[in-house]
Amino acid sequence: MSFLSQTLARVKPSPTIAVSNLAMELKAAGRDVISLGAGEPDFDTPENIRAAGVRAINEGKTRYTAVDGIPELKAAIVAKFKRDNGLTYTPKQVTVGTGGKQVLYNALMATLNHDDEVIIPAPYWVSYPDMVLLAGGTPVFIEAELEQNFKITPEQLEQAITRNTKWFLFNSPSNPTGAGYSWDELKALTDVLLRHPHVWVLTDDMYEHLAYDDFKFCTPAQVEPALYDRTLTVNGVSKAYAMTGWRIGYAAGPEPLIAAIRKVQSQSTSNPCSISQWAAVEALNGPQDFIAPHNAMFTRRRDLVVSMLNAVPGITCPTPDGAFYVYPSIAGLIGKTTPKGTLLSNDEVFATALLEETGVAVVFGSAFGLSPNFRISYATSDAALTEACTRIQTFCAKLA
Ligand SMILES: Cc1ncc(COP(=O)(O)O)c(C=O)c1O
Repeated sequence: MSFLSQTLARVKPSPTIAVSNLAMELKAAGRDVISLGAGEPDFDTPENIRAAGVRAINEGKTRYTAVDGIPELKAAIVAKFKRDNGLTYTPKQVTVGTGGKQVLYNALMATLNHDDEVIIPAPYWVSYPDMVLLAGGTPVFIEAELEQNFKITPEQLEQAITRNTKWFLFNSPSNPTGAGYSWDELKALTDVLLRHPHVWVLTDDMYEHLAYDDFKFCTPAQVEPALYDRTLTVNGVSKAYAMTGWRIGYAAGPEPLIAAIRKVQSQSTSNPCSISQWAAVEALNGPQDFIAPHNAMFTRRRDLVVSMLNAVPGITCPTPDGAFYVYPSIAGLIGKTTPKGTLLSNDEVFATALLEETGVAVVFGSAFGLSPNFRISYATSDAALTEACTRIQTFCAKLA
């Protein structure tokens, strides 16, 4: 019998991290690699936020804090939910963790029992299914095809709900597609949930501020206030404030659930980094004016990538509403052969051949639950994106 736990055997390591590692190995071996795998902004944490972190160190704010966050950060989060989402919470309804990832994980650990199902629209962020499995639950997928703009329909949601459904796990704008649900589209989903009072909503709003063109972000408890008592709204500072390494995420929801999440955290990591918490206070309370110019830059890069990919026969790339990913279909390339003789039988083979033959690192679609596709993160320089897309164009032109 294996020394390792049976639960762990149900789980696979993060494929996005695997792609980044392979790209790093090739780079270390001297290859010219352009990595479009990482899900993080390419700019530095804004100056005022960094200064708040330094100040926290110099003022000795370097000790244990309350397990689920300092009062100052909870107050900033309460104010943020009011300001941005029209949601009213008390500090006791707020929890802070080591990244949104830990908050999601804690929520699932705190609530799932054997037989509990979690509905996850696919394509999904890679960690959702494995977190559910680690917590002992069962992921149930709803496929949202490219033809439906990668968004599920109310009918699909209705069909997926069973007596065992515990959570509906929602993410808009989405990683990996960038698809965002409009108010009306989300209302149609919350109407379904109103008919099933045993289903709770776990909404991952990590890309709230990365919204482009006319897309207006909205979140389930805002769209349907009757769901407030069974919604956990998760968010964080990683993406909008370029704070991925600081590791601060947070959530708000019903007090008993927040207390249960605190219990999980109290017996694992305890408080998130004290210095990062003070930096997050400044992120949420400080000026927000750098977000608009960043979004203008991301919009430009998105348009560049979408147009260069759509110029390739066999690739179809919809224009996303938010986040910093595109998720093109390569249905028209499956069955072709690369210059080095590899038969492109699926998107994983495509991504591996692309990396090996052109040095462009992307993440294959099967990692996100919808194939044949691949994900590009366009949170990198225009020059790198242009070069990468040119290499993809040249590679695809040579397929036979
Ligand atoms: C959809 C989604 N949720 C959550 C996270 C985790 O963010 P954090 O850095 O706050 O843990 C990510 C990060 O890639 C993400 O893409």
